[in-house]
Amino acid sequence: MNSLPQSFDTIVIETKYMVSALPARRLVFTAAIALAATVALVYWVATISASMHGGTDDNAKSEFKFLQNTDNADISSELVRLGSLGREKCDNPYTRPGYLYASNEHDFTGSKWVPFYSGMLDRSKSDRAVYPRPPVPDSYSEHETFPDGPPPDREFGMSPHSWMRDLKDLSDLKRRDADDKVQLTEQQKRYKAQLEDRLYWVRDRRILLIADSVDRYMAIYMCSRLNGKFEHGPAGFQTTASCLIDHMNITITHWHVSSTYTSVPPWWWMKSTKTKYVAIEERWQEYYLPTVNQTIGKNGRSPDLVILQSGLWDQTMFAYAHNQLLLDQRKTTQFAEELDFMRPLNWQELNFYMHRIAKFIGLIREQFGSDVPMVYRSMTHKSNGSETMGIHDLERAARFVCKELDVEYMEFGSLVAGHYDWYRDKVHLEDGPLSALWGNIVMWYLFRTQGGNEFKGSIQRMPPRSTLDSQSHDLSITEAWKECHDVFMHSLLI
Ligand SMILES: *[C@@H]1O[C@H](CO)[C@@H](O)[C@H](O)[C@H]1NC(C)=O
Ligand SMILES: *[C@@H]1O[C@H](CO)[C@@H](O)[C@H](O)[C@H]1NC(C)=O
Ligand SMILES: *[C@@H]1O[C@H](CO)[C@@H](O)[C@H](O)[C@H]1NC(C)=O
Repeated sequence: MNSLPQSFDTIVIETKYMVSALPARRLVFTAAIALAATVALVYWVATISASMHGGTDDNAKSEFKFLQNTDNADISSELVRLGSLGREKCDNPYTRPGYLYASNEHDFTGSKWVPFYSGMLDRSKSDRAVYPRPPVPDSYSEHETFPDGPPPDREFGMSPHSWMRDLKDLSDLKRRDADDKVQLTEQQKRYKAQLEDRLYWVRDRRILLIADSVDRYMAIYMCSRLNGKFEHGPAGFQTTASCLIDHMNITITHWHVSSTYTSVPPWWWMKSTKTKYVAIEERWQEYYLPTVNQTIGKNGRSPDLVILQSGLWDQTMFAYAHNQLLLDQRKTTQFAEELDFMRPLNWQELNFYMHRIAKFIGLIREQFGSDVPMVYRSMTHKSNGSETMGIHDLERAARFVCKELDVEYMEFGSLVAGHYDWYRDKVHLEDGPLSALWGNIVMWYLFRTQGGNEFKGSIQRMPPRSTLDSQSHDLSITEAWKECHDVFMHSLLI
């Protein structure tokens, strides 16, 4: 809802600027703006009231809303339909400020990202916040404190769909169903059929992660939750890996990135075959390309979704390089035992990283086409919350490069920052609420690449069932991605 007035403002401001540059045409422009503004406003109010009439609050209670008549829907007419709904239906809940709810550190299926939507301050008025404090009968009552508990249903009702819960339930039901000794109950059969009907669009998908071990762990957890098979690629650990989820024909491939450095210098810290090649250009040839075919989806030329990220290895690389610099300058006589992760990066380091990320994005587009749905995942920190300085520098740099190169930024690190008790070690996040969040975000993007649209927790449009040949399906992925891309590129809420 917020995106239309916002982008509309921008248009008005830009046009105003043009107007003052051309005073003779001022009158015509002003009239045109007034007309456009009126039309847009009337249209906006009409669509908002239409969607309000649908009742967002009612959605809180209904478990899930399906679109009617999606069977064999033709993607092009579907797209026209979203176009006529307007760009305010483009909402990315994961780029909004919000709250990660989990009932405990192991809560996988019940944890949720709860985005804050306009109106929440009114909806969630708290009598605890009233000043002066109203008299309470018993001053030692619960009223004096803040009881534990989940957010209210109406806020939950607008949180994005938990695709991971569905996928996990379906995977488990299928496994049970395949077991001769177990008979599904009627209720379980119905639930299974319902899930299958809800998840058809996940079948046959290919996801490619080009990232470090943080994402590899996330993929491992997703794989085991969905009863898939995870294995390392032909070159072994820290090169490539993949998860095959047979029962849905899903492949998640991981290409390990060992920083953006361009060679293996003498000061490289990990002396093993794993990083025989560090430069992405070399890893591309030696490790990635031999597995590229498994990443290709139905369109025959690209994955359905590419997720890119490089941060923690760069942070370490810059720390080692700086130590070497101090040695070269005789400012120190030996390698420090504890690297300095509190040092802000210098300009040369930052500049290097930016150009390498830009090159990386270029390589991916060269390989899979410039329109491949690609996002850059925001960085996670080490669990020692104080060793984050370089990561903050890199994060800001990556955001800028992505903005320049028209790559969407996938919030994740920013959403989990601070949850260091939910890590498995100093660097990697543990299975639980954080891995569920990762999976739900990835699925949110995948849903979009298939033509799905979700707005404030209710599904506006299911992806078309693919009866189309591969060529027109390719078109649909590209078109579906483009639909809201510009809106997302220009809305920065976090
Ligand atoms: C599995 O998915 C791939 C990629 O989308 C597709 O080419 C292949 O035909 C699918 N296999 C089956 C058995 O459906
Ligand atoms: C990938 O598939 C193409 C086309 O089928 C084939 O020519 C190529 O050899 C395959 N590459 C690998 C590494 O298997
Ligand atoms: C976290 O890192 C800082 C800076 O490297 C260090 O001083 C501190 O002792 C570390 N804390 C823990 C708990 O490891």
